[in-house]
Amino acid sequence: MTQKLIFSVFGATGAQGGGVVRSLLARRLPHLRVRALTRVPTSAPAQVLADLGAEVVRADLDDAQTLGKALAGSDAVFAVTNFWEHGSPERELLQARHLAHAAQQVRVPHLVWSTLEDTRRYLPLEDERVPTLMQHYKVPHLDAKGAANALFRASGVPTTLLYTSFYWDNLIHFGLGPKPGTDGMLQFVLPMGDKPLPGIAAADIGACAAELMLRGPQRGTQSLGIAGEHLTGAQMAAQMAEALGRPVRHVDMDRAQYAALGFPGADELANMFAFKREFNDEYRARRSVAASRVLHPGMLDFRQWLARHACEVPL
Ligand SMILES: NC(=O)c1ccc[n+]([C@@H]2O[C@H](COP(=O)([O-])OP(=O)(O)OC[C@H]3O[C@@H](n4cnc5c(N)ncnc54)[C@H](OP(=O)(O)O)[C@@H]3O)[C@@H](O)[C@H]2O)c1
Repeated sequence: MTQKLIFSVFGATGAQGGGVVRSLLARRLPHLRVRALTRVPTSAPAQVLADLGAEVVRADLDDAQTLGKALAGSDAVFAVTNFWEHGSPERELLQARHLAHAAQQVRVPHLVWSTLEDTRRYLPLEDERVPTLMQHYKVPHLDAKGAANALFRASGVPTTLLYTSFYWDNLIHFGLGPKPGTDGMLQFVLPMGDKPLPGIAAADIGACAAELMLRGPQRGTQSLGIAGEHLTGAQMAAQMAEALGRPVRHVDMDRAQYAALGFPGADELANMFAFKREFNDEYRARRSVAASRVLHPGMLDFRQWLARHACEVPL
């Protein structure tokens, strides 16, 4: 009997990793075991994955001791860290360090690392166009992931650096959807001017990562960006208006105005959008929609995403 492959997935109870687990299980490959990694195997979301057919195993990126056992025997690993749970880029980087070390120790043959740009390569700390945050960062949640790329390279673990895009699901879960203005008309704030923003359905990140895991490692470190569509704020607003059946106005603002909105993380997101606007050509070039579709032909565009999810956007 041929031995089954084991694919281990971090963030399995969340958006990205959940998409990976579901996409792998949906393929019903008899030679594949899917290991869903979580800090709390008894949680309701973990149990849902067990019911779908995943093996649920405990692993905590903050606790290096848990990782070797969790990864042992894995033929491929999907890894994502969750900056927003703690807001510390140092902690996110330490989690990635634990992960790279454990993957090296147990000789993981292929790791897909969900990453983003270290914006300090484009905007050195002394660049005053965008203020420095937390003393050492321009966009902490991007910078830490990008800085972690070097850890995986140095580990010698064959790694695919998967550059993700803005989830359209942020319109539902992250408070970034349109809101009524003083005149009652829906306003969609996106501080990108007329520059297009690469976006994606979060679940499609999982489908792309699953495909990469099944394809196996390339030589050394490979790097790939994914997006479902690149759209300006005005184009997104127009499509939302169509889907919601009421007008939506795109509202642009500059970085400082956006940061002054004052919600938790506003300064960080203001810097993030400023980076994506300022370095738009390079940022978009890394995320080819055509190449993403080759990887995952079922990739949704924004109109298709809206057809499924517009009713979930809180207005
Ligand atoms: N929103 C966007 O547009 C966007 C775009 C690109 C990238 N990102 C990045 O995506 C990341 C979040 O991913 P997501 O949206 O998939 O998260 P999510 O849906 O909020 O879920 C977080 C996942 O991380 C797991 N997790 C958290 N801390 C852990 C730890 N110490 N050890 C092991 N697992 C841990 C959780 O598992 P348990 O609780 O079960 O342990 C859960 O499965 C963030 O870092 C963000 O920067 C977001």
